[in-house]
Amino acid sequence: MKKNIYQPSEAIIKDIIRETSLIKTFVLRPKEAFSFRTGQFIELTVPGHGEAPFTPSSDPGVKDRFDVTIVKAGCVTEKLHSLKIGDSLGIRGPYGKGYPLDKFKGKDVLIVGGGVGLAPLRSLLYSLFGDIDNYNKVVLRYGARTAADIIYKNLVPGWSKNKKTDVMFTVDVGDPSWQGNVGLVTTILKDLPIDLNKAVGVVCGPPIMMKFVTLKLLELGFKPQDIYLSMEKSMSCGLGKCGHCRVGKFYACKDGPVFTFEELKDVHDIWD
Ligand SMILES: Cc1cc2nc3c(=O)[nH]c(=O)nc-3n(C[C@H](O)[C@H](O)[C@H](O)COP(=O)(O)OP(=O)(O)OC[C@H]3O[C@@H](n4cnc5c(N)ncnc54)[C@H](O)[C@@H]3O)c2cc1C
Ligand code: FES
Repeated sequence: MKKNIYQPSEAIIKDIIRETSLIKTFVLRPKEAFSFRTGQFIELTVPGHGEAPFTPSSDPGVKDRFDVTIVKAGCVTEKLHSLKIGDSLGIRGPYGKGYPLDKFKGKDVLIVGGGVGLAPLRSLLYSLFGDIDNYNKVVLRYGARTAADIIYKNLVPGWSKNKKTDVMFTVDVGDPSWQGNVGLVTTILKDLPIDLNKAVGVVCGPPIMMKFVTLKLLELGFKPQDIYLSMEKSMSCGLGKCGHCRVGKFYACKDGPVFTFEELKDVHDIWD
């Protein structure tokens, strides 16, 4: 019999890492074979409560488990945050096209994240680090509201040690515990150690942040076709059938969720 494409398979929560007061990383072990490419997303079902799309945040090279980093936003995510190690979830996917790593090869890759938008970018970072000889440089710029809102804090020192990597974080609002830059993420997009003639920019975060970062990258001289955006549009089927995720002439679930700004620049409600 043909498999029901909406039928999730089972995954068990193996670990839960509290990143901030509103964000947790769930380590999931799928019961059936599962793999994803960086930037693709899955639909995660909380039995009896519904499903929602999330982008795995772990290294796609690890096959027996994967992580999803989830901010508590509403109904499904609130229930997710109340789950315990050993609980069971449904997963379907992966869906979408993810990041076109071939187009990044030999280039300086500027990665700009905001808030939980660092989740898909963490998976991208692992993919780049795993094949670093093929990339010229990896430059990460990340902004969070406050120091307490920064995710993956204990991983950052390791990322910074990579000789081809340049990492800088900022917070919107400083406090005595924070020694770094204070200001929006656009304030750390100056004097970038990259060669604009062979650079791509990858942006993920809240829509307003994506808008102003994109404008900044254009001002710096990035071409629209070299700016990659993860469009977290409202989704339902994830399969290119329901039309919930429409962005201009595209379906974000099927044609994205990663798009170049060149593809989207004429869409009037791109940042809504
Ligand atoms: C491709 C894709 C990948 C995503 N990856 C992640 C991820 O890795 N981690 C993560 O925490 N979140 C991610 N999201 C967002 C996540 O899907 C939503 O936060 C989730 O659907 C909210 O479900 P809920 O039932 O808890 O909230 P709801 O009760 O549905 O909504 C609560 C609030 O969140 C808003 N909201 C709902 N969906 C979205 C959305 N897609 N984008 C922005 N606001 C939304 C609603 O407007 C409402 O204000 C992703 C979304 C997409 C489309
Ligand atoms: S979510 Fe149904 S068409 Fe994209």
